[in-house]
Amino acid sequence: MTKIDLTGKCVWLTGASSGIGEALAYELARRGARVAITARRKEILDGMVATISASGGNAYSYPGDVLNLEEMKRIVASIEENIGPIDIAIPNAGTHLFTKPEQFDSAEYLSIMQLNFGGVLHCLEAVIPRMVLRGKGYLAPVASLAGYRGLPRAAAYGASKSALIHFLESIRFHLQPKGITISIVNPGFVKTPLTDKNDFYMPFLISPEKAAKIICNGIERGKRTIAFPVPFSWIVGLGKFLPAPVYEKIVNQLW
Ligand SMILES: NC(=O)c1ccc[n+]([C@@H]2O[C@H](COP(=O)([O-])OP(=O)(O)OC[C@H]3O[C@@H](n4cnc5c(N)ncnc54)[C@H](OP(=O)(O)O)[C@@H]3O)[C@@H](O)[C@H]2O)c1
Repeated sequence: MTKIDLTGKCVWLTGASSGIGEALAYELARRGARVAITARRKEILDGMVATISASGGNAYSYPGDVLNLEEMKRIVASIEENIGPIDIAIPNAGTHLFTKPEQFDSAEYLSIMQLNFGGVLHCLEAVIPRMVLRGKGYLAPVASLAGYRGLPRAAAYGASKSALIHFLESIRFHLQPKGITISIVNPGFVKTPLTDKNDFYMPFLISPEKAAKIICNGIERGKRTIAFPVPFSWIVGLGKFLPAPVYEKIVNQLW
């Protein structure tokens, strides 16, 4: 387990203009990190940088689209040239889309996969070779508890997060010996514009500020998996081991 002191660390965070990413940018800066923030909406990032700077923190605006690999590479090169080597990368940008498999549209599934999985891959391609060369680095991509097992209407989202979890568990075998630590961040329900679209009861819903604190605490402790809120993550984790008929009955009753 690698313990990390966030003070002075150079952190690159995507999906920083809203929700979990926005709260995380403020929390990281509050803990003394130098935070480079990426999302598509430049004006929001610039406003956040002004707010963080006004309170004595260090933040830098690097607008960009995670779907664009070359842009991610340019951003990483620019951060490292202007701020310093990236100690911690948090690819967090992602979205949710309800899907109706009975009106099947493969484009919907592929677009979510492209953002939630492909977008993270682009960020990692930009940053991993540099970390490998330095023999150190920390990755904390944001997946989801929804990636643990199939859920109604979440085929695209769940598949993208499940792919991400599996992928990160796999690359950890290769990158850990090279000095790179990976925390897989698996939130439950967090109140953000993403979940504001949900039309069902969200158990154990927490604020983005609380989520940001939990994620920072997890990174400081070098946790392999940062799954939260804890009671809900245990329940969902247990669901992985239930026989399919039992699991389906419970889920059908809840949703
Ligand atoms: N909220 C939850 O309950 C929950 C639970 C589990 C996991 N998560 C995961 O947590 C992450 C953040 O979710 P959230 O709830 O905070 O969502 P959110 O409030 O909708 O924020 C999504 C962020 O991603 C950015 N983004 C979207 N597409 C992008 C693109 N192509 N390039 C760059 N940035 C892009 C958005 O900024 P721009 O629009 O400015 O680009 C925004 O900053 C996602 O990966 C989500 O799947 C959320």
